[in-house]
Amino acid sequence: MTWQDFPKIELHLHHEGAAPPEFIRRLAQEKSVNLSGIFDDSGSYAFDDFPDFLRVYEAAASVLGSPDDYARLTAEILARLAGHGVIYAETFVSPDFCGGGDVSAWREYLHAMTEAAAQAEAAHGIVWRGVVTCVRHFGPYRSRAAARCAAETAGQGIVGFGMGGNETMGRQGDFAWAFDCAREAGLGLTTHAGEFCGADSVRQALDDLRVDRIGHGVRVVEDPALMDRLAASGVVLELCPGSNLALGLYPDMRAHPIDRLRRAGVRVTVNTDDPPFFHTTMTDEFAALELAFGWGEEDFADITSTALRAAFCDDVTRDTLKERLAAGHPALAARFSPDRMKTDVFNPDLLR
Ligand code: HPA
Ligand code: ZN
Repeated sequence: MTWQDFPKIELHLHHEGAAPPEFIRRLAQEKSVNLSGIFDDSGSYAFDDFPDFLRVYEAAASVLGSPDDYARLTAEILARLAGHGVIYAETFVSPDFCGGGDVSAWREYLHAMTEAAAQAEAAHGIVWRGVVTCVRHFGPYRSRAAARCAAETAGQGIVGFGMGGNETMGRQGDFAWAFDCAREAGLGLTTHAGEFCGADSVRQALDDLRVDRIGHGVRVVEDPALMDRLAASGVVLELCPGSNLALGLYPDMRAHPIDRLRRAGVRVTVNTDDPPFFHTTMTDEFAALELAFGWGEEDFADITSTALRAAFCDDVTRDTLKERLAAGHPALAARFSPDRMKTDVFNPDLLR
């Protein structure tokens, strides 16, 4: 068995960032849009650094102009994920790209995505949920419209609210209104922090936005006391090691802090962020972690169990997923055996 077949859960994946370059090129051709500036000679996305990545990302996203485009993209993404053993995926979807923050336009985009997801579930067994994200560099004002969209569609395929975009713009607390609105609507909360900004941005995420999960958060290792606090809090990190390597945070996988974080008791999950941009897949991530740290089936069962608990879906869905994970691999069956669960020091109050 290769890691490809190991049943997986993915929690940190940007919807547009999962669009293969061929998909975007085809759409651009259909619409007679010239996007040649964002691809290299081999047809891959071309960017120099994180701000440039965001530019290329937004140029690619600009050809996704209708609910039907998002339906096609959703079908493409979920088929690909299912091919890597993913049985449940949460993707980041931005009303900013889907109707410009207008609630009724957003409803149409979301409807198209949920219909495509239902078809993907019937065809491939993969379950999809959306986490509405605001875009940090679009500012706090637009984050409020995104949060209103999220609150209005909570429970209709939408299970969480988060923030992506350029982490160096403003402070986490500038977006507190949006996160409070989403919390009030019963949504799970996550924000990008501790990727391009230091440990203090993780502290801000905990104190000012009171999130359940943090996107990346790797730079918390720069502050051991905060790392202990994070471990005790039960807040889960959505780690994306391949993304961090592609954007130059670490020279190689052995230098990535994922293993250190896990040993310090921080709850970590493994994700791909924007897989075609970073030339990765969930299978690649697992294989690279095995190679760098010797992680095996037990480790990945543990990581998958953490992801299952941290998923923002309802508990009925979670229980169904647990059964499917247990049926899908002996290490997962052992991880979820009644004996093992009894000895598990898991405080549900700390997690959603
Ligand atoms: N990081 C932050 N913001 C983003 C990303 C990402 O990888 N992709 C799209 N928006
Ligand atoms: Zn991300």
